[in-house]
Amino acid sequence: MNETLRSIQNRRSCREYLTAQIKVDELETILQAGFYAPSAHNEQSWHFTVIQNQNTLNELNNDFKEVGKNVDDNFIKQVANDEKFHIFYHSPTVIIVSGDQKAILPQVDCAAATENMLIAAESLGIGSCWIGLAYWIFSSDKAADYKKVLNIPEAFIPYHAITLGYKKSEMTKVPERKLDKINYIK
Ligand SMILES: Cc1cc2nc3c(=O)[nH]c(=O)nc-3n(C[C@H](O)[C@H](O)[C@H](O)COP(=O)(O)O)c2cc1C
Repeated sequence: MNETLRSIQNRRSCREYLTAQIKVDELETILQAGFYAPSAHNEQSWHFTVIQNQNTLNELNNDFKEVGKNVDDNFIKQVANDEKFHIFYHSPTVIIVSGDQKAILPQVDCAAATENMLIAAESLGIGSCWIGLAYWIFSSDKAADYKKVLNIPEAFIPYHAITLGYKKSEMTKVPERKLDKINYIK
């Protein structure tokens, strides 16, 4: 197996991080991997907001909890009511991934960029997790305020986040893969 395939297979969602910040060049390498993702009509319709301020991340977590308690979904309600749960798992770096509303397929472009960044992180030995729950933070009344504070361009919608940090431990348990989801026409 080559390096690329190893990174794809070894990547796991990391939910426990060391407090040490990742290096600037590691962060830049990961962002660069995002920029090189494919995108519909090559629109590159993503925008990445890097947050390393723990007060801001805690505030976003608190707002997720507030909104989540009233979402019509048992899992979201449960984590929103769990005092110990932190939407970003106390990771030292979070990237908010936003897409340009004017593009053709911004959510798909953003997903491609996100997966590139997760694999790049793994290749550098850095833990990461895709945080779809972050969507709820930006679905609240405060969404417009947050977009201003976080400097997210006007036409962009925050879709999800990525947590990044050094792993507290190696994750060896691979969630079961459904390897039969394939068919061939020959
Ligand atoms: C669209 C999407 C949203 C996700 N949202 C979250 C999330 O909010 N929180 C979380 O801990 N994991 C989230 N995950 C990670 C999945 O739970 C994880 O990828 C899945 O359980 C498989 O585990 P693995 O990533 O270790 O292979 C998300 C993954 C995707 C693709």
